[in-house]
Amino acid sequence: MDSIIVRGNGPLKGQIPIAGAKNACLTLMPATLLSEEPLTLTNAPRLSDIKTMSQLLGSLGAEVTSLQDGKVLAMSSHDINNHVADYDIVRKMRASNLVLGPMLARLGHAVVSLPGGCAIGARPMDLHIFGLEKLGAEIELKDGYLHAKAPNGLKGAVIELSFASVGATENILMAATLAKGTTVIKNAAREPEIVDLATCLRAMGAQIEGDGTSDITVQGVDRLHGATHPVVTDRIELGTFMLAPAFCGGEVELLGGRMDLVESFVAKLHEAGIDVEETDKGLKVARKNGRVKAVDVTTEPFPGFPTDLQAQFMAMMCTAEGTSVLEEKIFENRFMHAPELVRMGANIEVHGGTATVHGVETLKGAPVMATDLRASVSLILAGLAAEGETVVSRVYHLDRGYERVEEKLSNVGAHIERVSE
Ligand code: UD1
Repeated sequence: MDSIIVRGNGPLKGQIPIAGAKNACLTLMPATLLSEEPLTLTNAPRLSDIKTMSQLLGSLGAEVTSLQDGKVLAMSSHDINNHVADYDIVRKMRASNLVLGPMLARLGHAVVSLPGGCAIGARPMDLHIFGLEKLGAEIELKDGYLHAKAPNGLKGAVIELSFASVGATENILMAATLAKGTTVIKNAAREPEIVDLATCLRAMGAQIEGDGTSDITVQGVDRLHGATHPVVTDRIELGTFMLAPAFCGGEVELLGGRMDLVESFVAKLHEAGIDVEETDKGLKVARKNGRVKAVDVTTEPFPGFPTDLQAQFMAMMCTAEGTSVLEEKIFENRFMHAPELVRMGANIEVHGGTATVHGVETLKGAPVMATDLRASVSLILAGLAAEGETVVSRVYHLDRGYERVEEKLSNVGAHIERVSE
């Protein structure tokens, strides 16, 4: 199993290219199941989660060809010959559940294992099921699998979600494109990945309005056709690497970065005393001198502060001047990085969904363990700002969501290397 060794660092300087969004790509790929014609994605990120989704689609009979070193995914779902998404693949990644809506809409039936993924809470699928049942599907849980069928096809409906779940909105949106009549998703998620999915589905011939707002309206069509679609920039990778110069000092330009993807996050960086400006090629982040200031953060659905940047921000608050309070409102068990940061000398108290971080002058390098995807990168960032050497083990979580992290960081001057044990 690989580990990453990080040594405390001086200021960083240079450019980091930001990849296409993992979370967008993982919902765009299952969209291929909606059409017999090819769907090609450009600007795809090169990550193990993408390989897992390719494997899952392949097991259903779709063809996924990786071109240009993985940056282009050419997919065809002409011959879907299996409607069972097996536990062995689904358990590796929660986003596997996104094949449910498209398979149901295209084939009229689907059997999908309940998912696994990061251990950051219960993460049920009740809202996905609620929405698809409103569209006329019959769904039952047997032996850990959801058995879904729509013998008479799906029918448009008004679906009001009790929480703006990203995955439920995506599954329902994909299914509704081929349902008869009009579907309205109320309290829909507004994440940029939803807008990206709707844009791709429109390119395939779907009729969708309102994506990016809380009310999405879909007029069902008889069939979708092929398309080529560029995956939107990864706002979480962008936010993560924006923090590197905030930890270490210096100035880094994030190529392809877009302010509209990270506005609430940038507002918190400004409060902490970090400069962010737009450039021709992306966003430039600089921290000149002195410690960052403590800032309070509450995670919320988009456009609020993203839960997927909470761990990284907490790592930065560990050496901030003052005390910051971080409230996690999306997942109930998402402070597993806190005890690891404490091992590096941080002063953090966790009570339920609230973490209070009392800033200390410096962190000290230590062996630490990554417990989920975003937690693992937060430990790398903390290691860059710590005295001495930090060894982050179990980095397979990291490879699920960050493309060539050690290469991107060492190119701007970070002391980071991967070792295989
Ligand atoms: C997606 C992202 C993940 C991000 C999260 C929130 C992907 C592949 N993953 O996950 O990185 O952290 O959005 O921005 O895009 N919930 C229910 N019932 C449901 C569905 C969800 O109660 O049927 C709850 C979950 O337990 C959680 C909250 O809603 O507490 C948010 O989940 P959701 O928005 O669905 O996140 P995911 O789509 O799983």
